[in-house]
Amino acid sequence: MIPYALSLLAAFLVLWVPVSESDHDAYRERGTAITDAAQKLLQRELSAAMQAGGPPTAVAYCHSRAQQVMDSISAATGVQVRRVTDRARNEMDRPQTEAEESVLRMLTSAYDGPSETIIETDGPLVHYYRPILIKEPCLACHGTPGETISAETMDVIKEAYPNDQATGYRVGDLRGMWHLTLKRDDAGDGH
Ligand code: HEC
Repeated sequence: MIPYALSLLAAFLVLWVPVSESDHDAYRERGTAITDAAQKLLQRELSAAMQAGGPPTAVAYCHSRAQQVMDSISAATGVQVRRVTDRARNEMDRPQTEAEESVLRMLTSAYDGPSETIIETDGPLVHYYRPILIKEPCLACHGTPGETISAETMDVIKEAYPNDQATGYRVGDLRGMWHLTLKRDDAGDGH
């Protein structure tokens, strides 16, 4: 845990551009508003698909729609929106930069409950990270095969994602994190 925390701290110090606390608060607010909205949108579409045909239909829905939802939010807000995880279902959600890797490692190893957001500045960019936790309804597709995940659902998952690693979670586990990349003036504070 400590080496990752230290490397994160080192990266943070190198990249650090002074911004006032109130700027941080503005980016935090904006990031939280966007991830709240994204979460709600995914949730709404997911429960509609679940009602229409249960988990197998909903898996097919996520397969075709989840990345599109992310892209449309990025297009609408001008903020790059990603979900990142160390146990990926969709390969695109693996860490793609060293910063993503180290923040994720830090959250994974140090995680003990609170859903703290992290703000980092990097030149003209601001990175916003927020943990994603497993809740009860997630277990139908991210829990234990044969227990919370039906055989039928598992078949659909395996077919769409042959290298799936996103099972075996329990309620409260860290599933991954949101990573938003904002431009320095995206919080609308004129800086
Ligand atoms: C009906 C099945 C289903 C349910 C229920 C479900 N997921 Fe997923 N989840 C998926 C699928 C399928 C993907 C891959 C989506 C894609 O291709 O982008 C996925 C991807 C993800 C990802 C992106 C990382 C990755 O591994 O690709 C996160 C984070 C995630 N789910 C969290 C959750 C959380 C938290 C819940 C509960 C609130 C939940 N999921 C409920 C099926 C489900």
